[in-house]
Amino acid sequence: MKINGRHYKTIWVKEGDEKTIQIIDQRNLPHEFVIEELNSVEDVFNAIKEMHVRGAPLIGATAAYGMYLSVLEAEEKKDERIIEDSAEKLISARPTAKDLEWAVKQQLEKINKTNDLKEKKRIALSNAKKISNESAEQCKKIGEFGVKLIEEISRKKNGETVNILTHCNAGWLACIDFGTATAPIYEAQKKGIKIHVWVDETRPRNQGSRLTAWELLQQEVPHTVIVDNAGGHLMQNGLVDLVLVGTDRTTFNGDVANKIGTYLKALAAKDNEIPFFVALPSPTIDWEMKSGKSIPIEERNSDEVKYARGLLDGKIRKVLLTPKESHAKNYAFDVTPARLITGLITERGICKADEKSIKELFSEKFIEEID
Ligand code: MRU
Repeated sequence: MKINGRHYKTIWVKEGDEKTIQIIDQRNLPHEFVIEELNSVEDVFNAIKEMHVRGAPLIGATAAYGMYLSVLEAEEKKDERIIEDSAEKLISARPTAKDLEWAVKQQLEKINKTNDLKEKKRIALSNAKKISNESAEQCKKIGEFGVKLIEEISRKKNGETVNILTHCNAGWLACIDFGTATAPIYEAQKKGIKIHVWVDETRPRNQGSRLTAWELLQQEVPHTVIVDNAGGHLMQNGLVDLVLVGTDRTTFNGDVANKIGTYLKALAAKDNEIPFFVALPSPTIDWEMKSGKSIPIEERNSDEVKYARGLLDGKIRKVLLTPKESHAKNYAFDVTPARLITGLITERGICKADEKSIKELFSEKFIEEID
């Protein structure tokens, strides 16, 4: 997608230096645009854990490059145990997003197909690139399928603006390109459909007000930032036509883990009979988990709740919001049960959030991995 008119992806190999991976450091966006270089597994681990990169598909792709760097380290230190150890370490960086574990295991499987380190290196790099490219392609497809929902609403409204509410950042910054929840929005914009996006700020890290707002601004999509608690009120007053969110892990019964607060949006949408769709590429689906109740929910440092970060006098600063002594809890995700979800938008099409419908789209996964 575009930043100041120039096309970027969120991760790439540095030109002329195959040992360096470059990412957009998302921590200080929208105020500072910084490209960071990752040169070791430790760098990759920190970038994922401390959320320089975030969003399920992007942390998967970043970990895939991390596995490539682990092969370089194994070669340099003449110790192949580094590869398995790195896989374990990278998977532990963030527990909820399925894409992370999926990408690391994919890499391990490919790397282990040969004993030749040079060949391992070649395979790991080419597979990391493949994972990234395929992820971007999946998001593009999600856009093509998802836009039909927006088109239909626009038709019913006789071409009046379609108001879409989104939570967190399930945009291109969370992916490699296009985004998941945002892909249908960008596709609708291309088709000239009138759209407007309500952007939930998404406390405590403000992925909505910092990242989604910034990327929509860059792509010139009309949008308005709202506080997390405003969604229900907007829905009651007919100001939301569609809720579109992403997910970090979807179990094969259709339960969806996504950024904390998603569940409340789904409840409000159900109560107001507003369609609630979840956009996801298939690596986000957990083919071994039957129910969202088993999804590990990440708990992050409580300081993220107690403090806010923002721009003051040209500098990014951190300010305390609560009494210093107050205890805070920081659950990063919640689970929206399938019964509250109108449908899932995948790279293979739109389906109901239930086992039977998911099975119809991805029958091979059930034969291979669940039986
Ligand atoms: O904690 P984050 O910022 O990594 O959480 C990201 C989300 O919850 C996204 O909605 C999810 O990864 C889907 S992104 C395409």
